[in-house]
Amino acid sequence: MDTRPLDYVEIARAESERGVLVLRERRAAGGPAALELRANGAFVMDTVEVSTERALASAALALVEHPRAVVVGGLGLGFTMHEVLADPRVELCVVVEVEEALVGWMRDGTIRHGPGLLADQRVHVVIADVAVALAEARPATYDLVLLDVDNGPGYLVHESNVALYEPSALGAARAVLRPGGALAIWSADEAPDLAAALDTVFGAGSAEALPLEVLLQGREERYWLYVARVRD
Ligand SMILES: C[S@@+](CC[C@H](N)C(=O)[O-])C[C@H]1O[C@@H](n2cnc3c(N)ncnc32)[C@H](O)[C@@H]1O
Repeated sequence: MDTRPLDYVEIARAESERGVLVLRERRAAGGPAALELRANGAFVMDTVEVSTERALASAALALVEHPRAVVVGGLGLGFTMHEVLADPRVELCVVVEVEEALVGWMRDGTIRHGPGLLADQRVHVVIADVAVALAEARPATYDLVLLDVDNGPGYLVHESNVALYEPSALGAARAVLRPGGALAIWSADEAPDLAAALDTVFGAGSAEALPLEVLLQGREERYWLYVARVRD
């Protein structure tokens, strides 16, 4: 375990109806700097351990033969979107992010890798609650929906996201998928209730839980992906 003291420098801060969003730089003495995103004081993500944000995209992309149109729920620091854009089969990547300030920081270079990612012509950013965006989207329009908007149903940063993991919102996600399409959801914890809700919406035995091992600031952790497909 790395025990060097950490320095923090606040890079940006914004307030919205959901509370306070802070972007800060974290630096271990003599070590490389990492960006950290926090919401209402809770750690959301950093730029050091992003393997599972990427795996959310790569695992789901591997399930679908023609992932032409993809929805990414939760921009964060852009790693899931980046992995989606690395796939040449993708023609459209709609990113739905509820925090307007975060989109601004990605666009104006406050987050240095942001402008390059958002310049990709296939990206379309929507500032909205992804539950609302999915409910309002045209049916059978997308091949993949990737959701990483919170820590999963067991440990929410925003209590209002609880509904996103329930059959009604999962049904809205299913409705926007074409036959053969897939929904993939990132979760910090094993979530049997989420698997059951996916089975309710997609059909018994549809939900698959994939464990993802990570090393987080010296600690071994296991995160989860929950995946379900619309039958062809
Ligand atoms: C853990 S981060 C996503 C990380 C992202 N997968 C990446 O690779 O950087 C969660 C993001 O979802 C956003 N978010 C939270 N609730 C949301 C909602 N209901 N609709 C859309 N975005 C939401 C947060 O503001 C945050 O940017």
